[in-house]
Amino acid sequence: MCETAYGKLERIYLGGEAEVRIYENVVEKIRKPKRYRHPKLDEILRRSRTKTEAKIISLARRNGVPTPVVLDVEGDKIVMERIRGKPVKEVMSTEISEKIGRYVARMHKAGIIHGDVTPMNMILSGDKIYFVDFGLAFIEDRVEPKGVDLHVYFESLKASFDNWEELKEAFLRGYRSEYERADEVIKRAEEIELRGRYVERRMT
Ligand SMILES: Nc1ncnc2c1ncn2[C@@H]1O[C@H](COP(=O)(O)OP(=O)(O)OP(=O)(O)O)[C@@H](O)[C@H]1O
Ligand SMILES: [Mg+2]
Repeated sequence: MCETAYGKLERIYLGGEAEVRIYENVVEKIRKPKRYRHPKLDEILRRSRTKTEAKIISLARRNGVPTPVVLDVEGDKIVMERIRGKPVKEVMSTEISEKIGRYVARMHKAGIIHGDVTPMNMILSGDKIYFVDFGLAFIEDRVEPKGVDLHVYFESLKASFDNWEELKEAFLRGYRSEYERADEVIKRAEEIELRGRYVERRMT
């Protein structure tokens, strides 16, 4: 592919929210316009969400969670370090899930809600697990959204791995080991799961 200031453009991901361009050494993430919104409002929202995402990537890093270094933020675009490694989905283990639990605990202690804790958004590089996607992240210190973070992760385990129960236990070990309010959040995650089941039953 074509040669640019960032080196060769190797791959492009077209997600729901963003276009992600993977170059030799850097990654560009550009938030896509939403056609149903007024263009001016859409531009304001995209800029502000891009800024929030970049801020939270750096905040997480300062709180001991491996994330890419942010190199530049420009309108609706973030330029960041490219993390080389394997998608966590391909290398998942109890050891890795326990570590994810520790990192999510660090985010929650700092008041960061990730918003999309799934193996698709993490990369294993060396002995670190990098969180690369903070597109849905926000700052909150209530128990409910923290419970939702856990619930979303457990659901993603169920959908992808036969040994999801083991992986869930490993995550909880890691989460408890670094967060004094862990039990409160874990209890809430269980309640959220029950609420979900109740709704499912009513709809069938
Ligand atoms: N810094 C990075 N280094 C290496 N690969 C990355 C990096 N950022 C993203 N990627 C790759 O690109 C894919 C898509 O990126 P990301 O998850 O941020 O976008 P998205 O899911 O479309 O965004 P959103 O969840 O905000 O809609 C990731 O799953 C990952 O494989
Ligand atoms: Mg993603």
